[in-house]
Amino acid sequence: MKRRDFLGYTGLGALGVATSPILSGCSEEQPSVKFWQQGNFRPVSEEVTETNLKIEGSLPPELNGLYVRNGTNSSSGISDHFFGGDGMMHGIRLEGGQAKWYRNRYIDTPVYRKESGGFGAPKPENTTSAVSLIYHGGELMSLGEFGYPYLVDPDDLSTKGAFNYDGKLAGSMTAHPRIDPATGELIFFGYNVVQPYLTYMRADASGKMLQVEPIEMTGPSMVHDFAVTENYVVFMEMPVRFSWLLAISGSGLPFKWDNDVTTRFGVMPRTGTNADVKWFDVPTCFIFHIMNSFEQGENVVVDAARYDHLWVEDSNDFFHPARLSRFSMNMKTGKASVERLHEHAMEFPQVNRDYWTKDYRYGYSLVVDEKNDSPKLIQKSEGGIRKYDVKTGEVDNYLPGPALEPAEAVYIPARESGGAEDEGYLASYVYDKNTDTSAFCLFDATKVSAGPIAKVPLPVRVPVGFHGVWVPDSAVS
Ligand SMILES: [Fe+2]
Repeated sequence: MKRRDFLGYTGLGALGVATSPILSGCSEEQPSVKFWQQGNFRPVSEEVTETNLKIEGSLPPELNGLYVRNGTNSSSGISDHFFGGDGMMHGIRLEGGQAKWYRNRYIDTPVYRKESGGFGAPKPENTTSAVSLIYHGGELMSLGEFGYPYLVDPDDLSTKGAFNYDGKLAGSMTAHPRIDPATGELIFFGYNVVQPYLTYMRADASGKMLQVEPIEMTGPSMVHDFAVTENYVVFMEMPVRFSWLLAISGSGLPFKWDNDVTTRFGVMPRTGTNADVKWFDVPTCFIFHIMNSFEQGENVVVDAARYDHLWVEDSNDFFHPARLSRFSMNMKTGKASVERLHEHAMEFPQVNRDYWTKDYRYGYSLVVDEKNDSPKLIQKSEGGIRKYDVKTGEVDNYLPGPALEPAEAVYIPARESGGAEDEGYLASYVYDKNTDTSAFCLFDATKVSAGPIAKVPLPVRVPVGFHGVWVPDSAVS
């Protein structure tokens, strides 16, 4: 990011998410070249449409809809930080047991069009919108963490334009909103480097903004995700802090670990105000992603990918393991506790989204190679997909070996309603280091270790990226 770009803006740029698992897609490492310019981090150069797709195995005929994933893909080929590239979607349409088309498309924003430099300032429209996607209120929304969401046409992945809830969205919107499966309400927040540092928001099922509530924080922390239960939301304040000094120096992202910051979770009734937030000190940590959250008796429970620390040296310091951990905030005693649910490293946690806000049994994540603790080792790491039974502690791993690198696995229910919690599929783009190609893979969520039940080789390599969504035809109005 160039200094003038950053100082020109009131929000921040399209922070995404990067963690050890996604630092493992490189084929031949070149030490002088940044990791995000090597291997499967390299951007692709063309937007492609392919309708002649072959299927190895079989796609369930009842799956009709779009799987689409967002990520950074610098249109100039080089960005100052892994998170700094333009947003690019990779989508595949499934219909009646066929893969009808694959498309990759940039999110068409002023930053992509080079009408605005850097991460997007001074207007909220100037975002790369590169982090995630969600379908809500009859719209497919591309989200970039900073700046406005962009609406996307699910029929061809064309960008329809920026969206700001009739002017009610003050600035930024998290890339990790939650939909309440009972009400259809969208619950989200935005954060900023100037006050208010965090703003809580809710929109009804039709996309109409219901509440905009500034939340007091002790400073400008990086807040990538949050938690939602049936009655509460949970905000995380953690030691990765914005620094004006780093912003002025203009190197990487202006965020860094600050030992003086207390890690704490703020629990607020979903329809509450800042005055209702109950803060709990928790053991020092950083969290990008929450797997799920729910209420259990007096406790508000949050299961998350917990790092002991992150970005201690600078914002390229990704080489730390995260482990699935359970935080319990007791609303009666005001005390919090944390326990580790699984010993091995992981990231990109997911669940059956019908269980968002609810007690649940099954989670899914990427497997992280714990040997992958420096940029020198990233091409040697081995990834995979893990299923967790958080009730019994059992796991089921898909470990395809060093050549294959799965991306985030998104759960797709087999039925529109009903069915068991894991009666469905996992969708992932899998990169083959040997052939430098990618494929769409679908797994049976009840037998993850068995490997994909269907594989669709793609005409375009799908670079290391961030988050996706399944948009069933039944949801599209
Ligand atoms: Fe994320």
